[in-house]
Amino acid sequence: MFARVLLIAAAASVACGNPAVDSLMDRVLSDLKNQLNTLGLDPVRASPFKVFVASNGPFNRDVRANFTEGSIVGLSGLVRNRDCTYLRAGGSNRVFGCEVLLGSTQFMMNVDVEGDNAMRYHRISTGTRIDNGTRALIMVRGIQGNQIKFESIKVDSSITSTTKVLRGRLELNAPRFAEFRRQVNQNISAQLRKTLTGPYAQALSNAFARYTMP
Ligand SMILES: *[C@@H]1O[C@H](CO)[C@@H](O)[C@H](O)[C@H]1NC(C)=O
Ligand SMILES: *[C@@H]1O[C@H](CO)[C@@H](O)[C@H](O)[C@H]1NC(C)=O
Ligand SMILES: *[C@@H]1O[C@H](CO)[C@@H](O)[C@H](O)[C@H]1NC(C)=O
Repeated sequence: MFARVLLIAAAASVACGNPAVDSLMDRVLSDLKNQLNTLGLDPVRASPFKVFVASNGPFNRDVRANFTEGSIVGLSGLVRNRDCTYLRAGGSNRVFGCEVLLGSTQFMMNVDVEGDNAMRYHRISTGTRIDNGTRALIMVRGIQGNQIKFESIKVDSSITSTTKVLRGRLELNAPRFAEFRRQVNQNISAQLRKTLTGPYAQALSNAFARYTMP
């Protein structure tokens, strides 16, 4: 009974987090800040996609918007959210989870639009900013004093964003603009998730490998 109480107390003390892991995470994010541009990850090319907004009244037409080219900027600005937490011991490994906020990230896109005004088609540019409440959980493991191994990055199941027209005009009434934003959010969320769990995760993994588990 007494031994069990002690064990629980020990587990509780690490569950509170570890300031050394927090500062390590900050160092890795700051290393990435200096490397992502060279690695071609800030900015990184965005993939083209299309949006279709149906007519919703007698005075407007179907709108087609081709997001033809653009980039994702700001991945080097991710910041740690609250303290990293001790998740579990995997054998002699310690496993920590650190949350980062994605609010520095924006998609800057050129868009060819037709159907919103009398012109056959016209070009606008949009900026989609990821809401800063959107998080990703980075998990690492390692034996104290040994090389850190990056385990995974899990992005929130719902990514939210705000899209603005930065150049040109998009003539959509409020419900149609809301639908436009919804489709843009859906597509760029999938792209962001893919970038974070693909090339960004690789860069993180390399950055962590240069440190030992505190
Ligand atoms: C994003 O757009 C591309 C190209 O149109 C399409 O292949 C992909 O399925 C879309 N993804 C989502 C989640 O809408
Ligand atoms: C996101 O929130 C964090 C914590 O409040 C803050 O440090 C950071 O500057 C914010 N980022 C943006 C882009 O607003
Ligand atoms: C969008 O792309 C489709 C096919 O790729 C093309 O037929 C259409 O004309 C384009 N629309 C605009 C507004 O550029």
